[in-house]
Amino acid sequence: MLVNLNDVLYQALARKCAIPAFNVFGYEDAKAVIDAAAEMGSPVILATNKVAIHHMPIEVIGAMLVEMAKKAAVPVVVHLDHGQNYETAAKAIAAGYSSVMYDGSALPFEENVRNTAEVVKLGHAFGVSVEGEIGSVGYSDSATGNDGTLTDPYEAKVFAEKTKVDALAVAVGTTHRMETQSASIDYHLMEEIQKVVPVPLVMHGSTGLPDNDLQEIAKMNFCKVNIGTAIRMRFGNSLRKAIHDKPEVFDRLELFQSPIKEVKQEAVNKIRLLHANHLT
Ligand code: G3H
Ligand code: ZN
Repeated sequence: MLVNLNDVLYQALARKCAIPAFNVFGYEDAKAVIDAAAEMGSPVILATNKVAIHHMPIEVIGAMLVEMAKKAAVPVVVHLDHGQNYETAAKAIAAGYSSVMYDGSALPFEENVRNTAEVVKLGHAFGVSVEGEIGSVGYSDSATGNDGTLTDPYEAKVFAEKTKVDALAVAVGTTHRMETQSASIDYHLMEEIQKVVPVPLVMHGSTGLPDNDLQEIAKMNFCKVNIGTAIRMRFGNSLRKAIHDKPEVFDRLELFQSPIKEVKQEAVNKIRLLHANHLT
């Protein structure tokens, strides 16, 4: 069934577990993630980022994911990841997304507050949950020029109160697009943030987190844990192997079989580490 963040994050908060938000780019990985969640009896978040909606128009991927969510046996959130502006958030809402992120983390504080609050007003008018970001989770890929800035707990509190976001992404040491689980997070900062921020917290760049950190953050107020690169690597590496192992096969539906299986396994593993299977 299609749900929004508020339908699942408070349950996760109460039960000391976290819901994974997996970045998906099409039918195959979305199906693998939903199948993993259904097998584990866990809610799940399907997230589409800028690259995904550049590849496939937001109305098209939105309609597909919403339909898949409605048919799923477990709660599924269809979420816009790192929305760049009000227009994109509005398009996502029109396409049926149940949740959007507005990422104004690169802007000055007051501008980020103003823009995020406008998206919150729009989202809430349509029953759509809204995530904001304060501080900035950087990128391991130096070409983006964004090394990130750790979140200040007081700013996070004021930001959450002023914008009325449903969930807040904070920067505590992870970096987007890491290919190894070698990020180091600041637990003291995380404690300070969760003491004063009244809404569920979001961890971005979670591919970089070691398994034991995933287990630990799930017990804290980090109720939404974003995982993208781990899934992309599993899909791409498995597809490469399938093409190499079966040079005579040109039918992509056949070549997609092992990537779908491997993405499902990866999702099952992360769901287990976050204890999300305890939720339904
Ligand atoms: O918003 C998406 C995530 O933060 C994914 O990050 O690709 O480093 O796991 P990741
Ligand atoms: Zn992110």
